[in-house]
Amino acid sequence: MITTTGGTVEFADVPEPVRSGSELLVEVSASTVSRGDLHSVRLAPPGRAVGLDVVGVVAEPAVDGSGPSVGTRVMGYAATRPGGWAERAVVDSSLVAPIPDSLSDDVAAALPNSGLAALAGLEAGGFLLGSRVLVTGATGGVGLLAVQLAHLAGAEVTGLVSSPERREQLRAFDWLTTVTAEEAEGPFDLIVDLVGGDVLSRAMSLVAERGVVASLAQTASETASVPFFWFAQHRGAKLVSVYNSDGLREAARGVRQLELLARLAETKRLDPQVTGSASWEQAADLLAALGRRELTGRTTLRIS
Ligand SMILES: NC(=O)c1ccc[n+]([C@@H]2O[C@H](COP(=O)([O-])OP(=O)(O)OC[C@H]3O[C@@H](n4cnc5c(N)ncnc54)[C@H](OP(=O)(O)O)[C@@H]3O)[C@@H](O)[C@H]2O)c1
Repeated sequence: MITTTGGTVEFADVPEPVRSGSELLVEVSASTVSRGDLHSVRLAPPGRAVGLDVVGVVAEPAVDGSGPSVGTRVMGYAATRPGGWAERAVVDSSLVAPIPDSLSDDVAAALPNSGLAALAGLEAGGFLLGSRVLVTGATGGVGLLAVQLAHLAGAEVTGLVSSPERREQLRAFDWLTTVTAEEAEGPFDLIVDLVGGDVLSRAMSLVAERGVVASLAQTASETASVPFFWFAQHRGAKLVSVYNSDGLREAARGVRQLELLARLAETKRLDPQVTGSASWEQAADLLAALGRRELTGRTTLRIS
């Protein structure tokens, strides 16, 4: 298993994780390097398990009998107990879905955490057909999925990129308008913010009356400021905090959303743009590269 140590990670021999209730044990074959991992590595005390995405085969069923049976190939979101960077990980059955053989480990690994976040951000906007949607951090793992899902839902989508050069990464999406923060012009009915700081402040000035700004991130780690007249100038607009793990147990929403993401990716309607796949031995280097903003798209880890 890989665990945290002083702002980075190291390999450690640990006992097999013990599961209880609705948790099942997965023999892991792939995970991802995501900004959520980077945040927890920087903040967590030494010895904490890492890895939010899990792809593998169910090795032990959930104690309460819920979820897929032993031998099923699955993808899952280890929201409650990060630990995907390990040979075996515990995942709650409400955040696990079977995946088809035709879906590669790399693509499947890029879907759970980022796909659920993208869906949660878009859900904040309600009915999206014909809506004007802005996604900030559009070139990141979550942003790439958010722009595609918004497009599939019938929205007019704009992706905010950090520089003109970053547009290149989104060229395949000929339906997408791309803008930098300086170029962006509203109004937008929904803004999914994946950056925070100054980018969030700028985005908030672009929201339509009764529009929604869904804030999911503090990637930029700066203070966002709200102009004094924001509330008066954007009547009925809402700023909401969104977390991808909220409400997913209700009516098996987590499982259904994961199944949807798998189905869309399998049928090539959703592409998480896996730009690199590396052995988990390179996890520390990849985390450092992510911190320097040198990674684009999503990088997956092969666990062996
Ligand atoms: N609330 C939730 O439930 C939830 C769930 C998942 C993720 N998140 C958060 O969502 C955020 C995005 O996650 P991710 O995995 O997509 O991250 P990512 O792959 O690292 O992408 C980050 C995106 O933000 C841009 N960016 C980074 N720093 C920036 C800055 N200072 N100014 C402007 N743009 C900047 C990046 O542009 P460049 O390509 O130019 O670097 C990239 O487009 C993270 O903060 C993550 O923790 C929240």
